[in-house]
Amino acid sequence: MHTSDIDLDRVPGHVAIIMDGNGRWANARGLPRNAGHEAGEQALFDTVEGALELGVRDLTVYAFSTENWKRPAEEVRFLLEFNESLLLRRLDELDERGVRVRFVGRRDRRVPRRLIRRMDESEAQTADNERMTLRIAFNYGGRAELVDAARRCADDVAAGELKRVDERALAARLYDPEMPAVDLLVRTSGEQRLSNYLLWQAAYAELVFTDTLWPDFTRVDLARAVREYQARDRRFGRAVDDVGSARSR
Ligand code: IPE
Ligand code: IPE
Ligand code: MG
Repeated sequence: MHTSDIDLDRVPGHVAIIMDGNGRWANARGLPRNAGHEAGEQALFDTVEGALELGVRDLTVYAFSTENWKRPAEEVRFLLEFNESLLLRRLDELDERGVRVRFVGRRDRRVPRRLIRRMDESEAQTADNERMTLRIAFNYGGRAELVDAARRCADDVAAGELKRVDERALAARLYDPEMPAVDLLVRTSGEQRLSNYLLWQAAYAELVFTDTLWPDFTRVDLARAVREYQARDRRFGRAVDDVGSARSR
């Protein structure tokens, strides 16, 4: 990977990716949509490798949204089974690379019990890994996550365990309270929208959109996105003149 022009001291700590365009990639080749999902596996693992090389601490990928249940039953079934088989086949590899795997999303009845068990086992097996945390957003929706967190706040207030509902209280009740704020959010396939992804955590993320379809995405594309990120001024609401001092703080 060509990383010589990347400032390794300013690599985004948390990169989130909306892996989009599998269906269009397949269609362009006269293949069924599911072949596009299969082709996305290689892109994911090359991206993980690239993230490790760069020293990214947290990588969060969107695998299945709360809206994706609207797809044809056959595609939904494929996606559920594909994600399960991917975990079975490649978890050891992630484990060996020092990657801690976690899942964020609603574990409701629509998600097969067997897949939930695989998720739990994967989290347990890799729990002590420290090089990078790979979060897989599955049956994930930003609105659902905020509703779930708000409900938990309400329950805790009713139980007398929480006095003030503030940002800290809500953040502590998200699916994975340890997940840091997103620094860089990448979406492939030319679409420029969030599609209900990490609405809370990406509040101040730098957004990078690329026309590359997800199955064609590699660590080189990741490095390109990081380069674009490093060219941005992150002001967090401060005045332009203040940015230099903000950065050195
Ligand atoms: C992303 O690719 C994968 C999932 C949403 C599961 P798509 O399946 O959305 O591909 P396009 O957008 O139809 O090309
Ligand atoms: C977002 O992609 C969800 C995932 C990548 C898993 P979609 O393809 O489902 O998003 P929309 O429908 O185009 O907004
Ligand atoms: Mg899509």
